[in-house]
Formats: sequence, C-alpha cells, structure tokens
Amino acid sequence: MNFHFILFGSLFVAASCEFVWKHHNNEELPLVLEEIHRKCPNITRVYALSEPSVLGVPLYVIEFSDKPGFHQPYKPEAKYVANIHGNEVLGRELLLGLANYFCEAYLNNDQRIGLLIHTTRIHLLPSMNPDGWQLATDTGGQDYLLGRSNNHSVDLNRNFPDLDAITFELEREGINHNNHLLRDITRLAAPLEPETRAVMRWIMQIPFVLSAAMHGGDLVANYPYDESRSGAPVAEYSASPDDDTFRDLAMTYATAHADMASKTRPGCHSTSADDSSLYNFGKQGGVTNGAAWYSLKGGMQDFNYLATNAFEITLELGCDKYPPASALPREWQRNKEALIQYLWKVHSGIKGVVTDDSGFLQNAIISVVNITGHIPRPIIHDVTTGLYGDYYRLLTPGHYEVTASHPGYFPISRIATVPYGQQTSAVILNFELEPTSSWFDEEGALGFYEAAYGTQPRIYKRSLYEKVVRNILELKSNDKH
Ligand SMILES: *[C@@H]1O[C@H](CO)[C@@H](O)[C@H](O)[C@H]1NC(C)=O
Ligand SMILES: *[C@@H]1O[C@H](CO)[C@@H](O)[C@H](O)[C@H]1NC(C)=O
Ligand SMILES: *[C@@H]1O[C@H](CO)[C@@H](O)[C@H](O)[C@H]1NC(C)=O
Ligand SMILES: [Zn+2]
Repeated sequence: MNFHFILFGSLFVAASCEFVWKHHNNEELPLVLEEIHRKCPNITRVYALSEPSVLGVPLYVIEFSDKPGFHQPYKPEAKYVANIHGNEVLGRELLLGLANYFCEAYLNNDQRIGLLIHTTRIHLLPSMNPDGWQLATDTGGQDYLLGRSNNHSVDLNRNFPDLDAITFELEREGINHNNHLLRDITRLAAPLEPETRAVMRWIMQIPFVLSAAMHGGDLVANYPYDESRSGAPVAEYSASPDDDTFRDLAMTYATAHADMASKTRPGCHSTSADDSSLYNFGKQGGVTNGAAWYSLKGGMQDFNYLATNAFEITLELGCDKYPPASALPREWQRNKEALIQYLWKVHSGIKGVVTDDSGFLQNAIISVVNITGHIPRPIIHDVTTGLYGDYYRLLTPGHYEVTASHPGYFPISRIATVPYGQQTSAVILNFELEPTSSWFDEEGALGFYEAAYGTQPRIYKRSLYEKVVRNILELKSNDKH
C-alpha cells in the first residue's frame, strides 16, 4: 500500500462516506444513495422516476433486493414514500438512514435484515417533493404551510385521481367492481402535476403489495379511507373492505414506535393538560381511520388501494414538521423498529401463483371470504395476479375461503388458515385453473348422452366424457354379440 493510496484513498473515503444525520439537500440526497450503492452493489439499485419535479429535480429511489431491477415470483414488493409535503422532512432523512442501515446490516451479516432483503423487494423514495423541501428550507423550515405544495402551489396529496368517489358510487349502485378503478376515470378534477404523474406511473408499473407514505405535523398511523362516503368535508369513519387488515397494519407501526401508541403522551396540538377537545391519537392506540380525522379527496393512500393491489397507510411521524438536525438520531431510534416491522407485514396473509396447464395466468382474480366468524363475510376487494401469475393477499389471522378465477377458466375455491405469529412468510396457496374449453357443454354432444341414457344432460369434463362415451360404445358393441 503506497502513500498516495492512504492519503487520497482512505482519508478521502473516511471523510466523505460515513452516513451523517443531518438535513441532506437536493444535491446531497442522490450522493448518499450512490454511496450506499457503492458499498452494497449486489443488493441495491438507484433509479429516478419517469419525470422530475417542476423545477427539474429527479425523484430518486433506492431499491433493495437480492436481484435489483427485477420482480421475482413469491417475493412481494414494498415501498416507503416521504416528503410529499415539502416542509414535512423527517421521513426523508429516516429513509436515507434506513437505506444506510440496511446496507450496513447486510454487510455485517445481520440475519433478520439479510432475510428481509432476500425475500422482499423494497423501494425507498426519500423525497417526492424536492422543490417544496427547498422552499421550506430556504425560509427557515418553521412555517406550517410554506413548502407544503410543489412549485405550482399544488398539494400533491390532493392531486391524485379521486377513485374514492367511484368506489362509493359503485357501492351505492350495488355493482361488485372493486379494484383497479383507474380505468373508470373519465375526467380529472385537476391536471396532474409532474410529481404526481411520475409517482402514479411507478405505482401502476411495479406490483407493490405494501406501502406507507410519510408526513409530519402529528403522531399517528392513518389508514383508508381518507375520504368520507358522502364526500363532504366532515369527520366520519369511512371503512374500506379491508378495515381489519388496515387497522392491523397501522397498529404494527404505532406499537413498534417509541411512543406513537402511548396512552399517556400529550396530543400534538394541546396547549394545556386538558386536551379533550383536540385529537390525542395516543389515547386511541396511535392509529386513526383517515376520514374519521378529516376527509380529503385526491390523496395518494386511497389511490394505491383503489388503483392497484397495494395497501398503503399514511404515517404522521411527529408533531414537529421540520425537526432540527440534532433531533434526527433520536428520531431514528424511535422509528427504527417500526420501520422494519412494518416492512415484514408484506409477508402476512396468503400468496401464491395461478397457472393453467401451459403456464402462468396473469390478471387472474383472487377473491376472499372471511369464514372465521359464524357468518361468512366476503371481503369486497379483490387482488389480481401479476407477470408470473403471482398474487399477495394481506390478511389478519383467521380462516378464509380463497377463490381464483379468470375468464375462460373454471374458478377454484380453497380454504386457508392464516396463523397467529406469522412472521417471515405468507401462507402459500397455489391454483391451477382448468380452461372451460376442455369441457363439453355443446348441445350436439349432450344429445348423444341424452340418447344413450334418456336423462337430462349434465356437463362433463371432456376426458371424463370421452371415457363415458367409450364405455357406452363398448356396452353397445357387447350387446350385439
Ligand atoms: C457481490 O457479489 C459478488 C459475486 O457473488 C461477490 O464476490 C462480492 O463479494 C459481493 N460484494 C458485496 C459487497 O457483497
Ligand atoms: C418556484 O421556484 C422559484 C425558483 O426557485 C421560486 O422563486 C418560487 O418562489 C417558487 N414558487 C413556489 C410557488 O414555490
Ligand atoms: C375475519 O374475521 C375475524 C372474526 O370476525 C376477524 O377477527 C378478522 O380480523 C377478519 N379478517 C379480516 C381480514 O377481515
Ligand atoms: Zn403532510
């Protein structure tokens, strides 16, 4: 080892590469991600979404996987998105810290993180609104609203297509069409911002299963729906078909966080000991239904659920939207376990592949009836299979009847039990569907059956039918002898 290497190699590396808890600006953010990729090239990929912010700042993502860049069957995908509101900055730094932690833990052969990365594809988008972050930072970061919106003064968490309005209308009309509703949109309330468009394309393109969006200004895990059923700006509980599962997801984060679920902590906006008139989410376990807090239209959370197979919740990470850099290490400690435990939730419920005799079946529908209680209760939100015929159905512990169906095939239903204490893998339930074309239902053929037996025709599988026909013919030819 020569002098130059020590001087320009080690010293330089030591000075620039250690992860530091601070507010990383828009130029530093991709450098942090690149540095992590340099340290952990085999399990990471850094990429930018399809278009940049209004001011041209790329929206960078770091991905963790044992095959970066590729979806693999049986490996569910999860994401964290932060800094949608530019002046809510804690999530942005936590995601940079989480990325650094994943890499370090992987290099140190941490069993739990190693297993997570080998079984899951994880995407982290630290900043969805870099322009708002810049404005908030340039103006001191303490204003409740400055920097919240993007550079067109649009609140990005109100800019997504309002699919809630569609699902509520279908509900009222009793139409059972309950997923992938983006194609039912005929008109947008407002033009899409570049940041929204980029994130929508990403959400539609990658088969995400689980997600969380990070905000600040309160301390609570918020779950769908965010919009009231009447659409009115009132506070009323607006349950989604997956209310139990969503509440469980939100509680996972809240209870693993240092004090989100603490019943004794003060509410964020209380000024005296008596804060009974204000929300104190600690008293309700650190979770809330979105619309029960306040109703909003055009949010990203409900869009994920209603446009794709992804389940997203919204995390309010603290009372202070722009905490000082000195508070970041402590915030990391307060959130670290929650950030990891929540990602493991992508392995809850049931997963599998749907095939036919020649291969994977994409866009098969997986529907579920909850048969845990006395009365079977359908969960009116189906998920669909992806590129490899694979599906992931998040569920809480219980007994379920799961049906796989696809046009042109006979549906199959199977019973599955999701056990308590499920941790590192969903219950595997595969389906092989039979095309309807392999069965006889033609009048002509059944006429023959009728002639032979003189009964009502029944539908038989072709192979069975042919056996029956052979038997009949043999019987008849025996008669002649
Ligand atoms: C990446 O994978 C290669 C090939 O398996 C291996 O030689 C190398 O040590 C790995 N690098 C790291 C940083 O894990
Ligand atoms: C948009 O960006 C420009 C250039 O940085 C800045 O002067 C302006 O205040 C920003 N507008 C908003 C609404 O953020
Ligand atoms: C299924 O029903 C049981 C009993 O009512 C309940 O505890 C569980 O949360 C339900 N699961 C889902 C996913 O709704
Ligand atoms: Zn926010």
